Amino acid sequence: MVVFLSKIVHNRPALPENNWHEVRTYRDFSDAARWLAVRNAALLGRVAAGRPWDERDFRREFLDKPHWRPDWMWFAEDRSGQDDATAGVAVMTANQHTAPSVASIQWLLVRPERQRQGVGRLLLSAIEAAAWEAQRTTLVVETLFEWTDAIAFYKFCGFSAGRI
Ligand SMILES: CC(C)(COP(=O)(O)OP(=O)(O)OC[C@H]1O[C@@H](n2cnc3c(N)ncnc32)[C@H](O)[C@@H]1OP(=O)(O)O)[C@@H](O)C(=O)NCCC(=O)NCCS
Repeated sequence: MVVFLSKIVHNRPALPENNWHEVRTYRDFSDAARWLAVRNAALLGRVAAGRPWDERDFRREFLDKPHWRPDWMWFAEDRSGQDDATAGVAVMTANQHTAPSVASIQWLLVRPERQRQGVGRLLLSAIEAAAWEAQRTTLVVETLFEWTDAIAFYKFCGFSAGRI
């Protein structure tokens, strides 16, 4: 069952302090492998997650879409550089069917071994800052009833069930 959650962003959020991770946006196609590694690890064995994705899926989902924006795709990386693997990824979208004040969180994923370290909050703050800049202050997200960690996370971050 799909669950809709939404939140109004009332001010430009400051990035929360996170000693271990920093956030950047998409750089080039070498980021596809980083994104796919996080996606496939975070959704492994999940209800409705389907098969692992490869570069063709990445192109189809993002690069081939006219509304995809590299500056609305975020990567959380280890600040120390010791861990090469990207800790988490996020994507925000808006297209011609989206109301002018609304943006959607399309993806927000954290690698299992990096969960509960504030990476999700860090990525969400980057999304909220971009939504604020774009004057799309209503953020919406769809998740699944079975994905209880996602629902707990979004509620912790101020989202309420339902569409605004
Ligand atoms: C949901 C998800 C993005 C959260 O990322 P995260 O980096 O672990 O989240 P944070 O560490 O920033 O958590 C912030 C708060 O959210 C809540 N929270 C996060 N994960 C939770 C869980 N599994 N169970 C209960 N509460 C949780 C907690 O209140 C947490 O604060 P705390 O750790 O101090 O208790 C991550 O669990 C994930 O990638 N899950 C798999 C994919 C997914 O469901 N993505 C969202 C689909 S739309």
